[in-house]
Amino acid sequence: MDERMVTGELQAEEFSVELSLRPTTLNQYIGQDKVKENLHIFIQAAKMRNEPLDHVLLYGPPGLGKTTLAAIISNEMGVQFRSTSGPAIDRAGDLAAILTSLEAGDVLFIDEVHRLPRAVEEVLYSAMEDFFIDIVIGTGPSARSVRIDLPPFTLVGATTRAGLLSAPLRDRFGVLSRLEYYETKDLCAIVERTAEIFETSISKEAAVEIARRSRGTPRIANRLLRRIRDISQVKGETEISYQTTELALEMLQVDDAGLDHIDHKLLKGIIEGYKGGPVGLDTIAATIGEESQTIEDVYEPYLLQIGFIQRTPRGRIVTPKAYHHFGMKVHEDE
Ligand code: ADE
Repeated sequence: MDERMVTGELQAEEFSVELSLRPTTLNQYIGQDKVKENLHIFIQAAKMRNEPLDHVLLYGPPGLGKTTLAAIISNEMGVQFRSTSGPAIDRAGDLAAILTSLEAGDVLFIDEVHRLPRAVEEVLYSAMEDFFIDIVIGTGPSARSVRIDLPPFTLVGATTRAGLLSAPLRDRFGVLSRLEYYETKDLCAIVERTAEIFETSISKEAAVEIARRSRGTPRIANRLLRRIRDISQVKGETEISYQTTELALEMLQVDDAGLDHIDHKLLKGIIEGYKGGPVGLDTIAATIGEESQTIEDVYEPYLLQIGFIQRTPRGRIVTPKAYHHFGMKVHEDE
């Protein structure tokens, strides 16, 4: 099996399934209590004043539900949801076309908002701040700037790290919400909810085990559940058992800490190639044949969170805790 089970990326085949699983109200949304609590108040206040919600920046590792929350915001506000992404908008004119087609109060969701081209981003400043854009028409001496007023709208931006945004863009968001890795109990509730949607029974122990080994990420938990359900079904089970879950996770190469073969490659690459580090991100990326950006956005945050690696000014180091996980002896300083 070459498909990475725990990647943050959404596979095309599962896109429609994912959509049908998504909660549509804040009440249905499990976990992220602080973010939900804040959004609930800001949404209520905006509705009471009959104003659009202030612009919202959602940031955090992939797979934690940023797109879902954006759609929930529009649903709770009772407005249309328009969705695009930073890399999809090439030119300022593309953004102008989207902005001028909005209706008052609409939510415009821009995923990977840190990847907007600079010229496009600059158009967004006045749009966000004062709901107008200046568009340059023509070229050379006859070029002139035309001001177009926009309906008031809410921009919901999503990014893996707030630090990737330029300061002027970041400053224009009134609400900054950081999504955290989910606690096991919340992931367990998500697995049980998803199983119910699938009309599949699952034992408590099996749900807890999937939750525990999903790297704090609902997208991973739901993906594992689908694969484990397949295996359970083929075995003729009427309920997904703990035993089958364990067996399936082993088949899927997800270890006891929820780490997969790429996490292993990363950690063992540093341990075996660099005596546990420190080693620079680009060096380790080249060594194991993964993109630096992917390591930084997808793999590393969880390994940092569980204390398997640390970032130092001289590069990444693998901690004794990670050596322990592999049953290896820590390299001594020479
Ligand atoms: N499915 C995926 N993420 C979820 C969440 N946070 N709450 C409920 N269902 C989910």
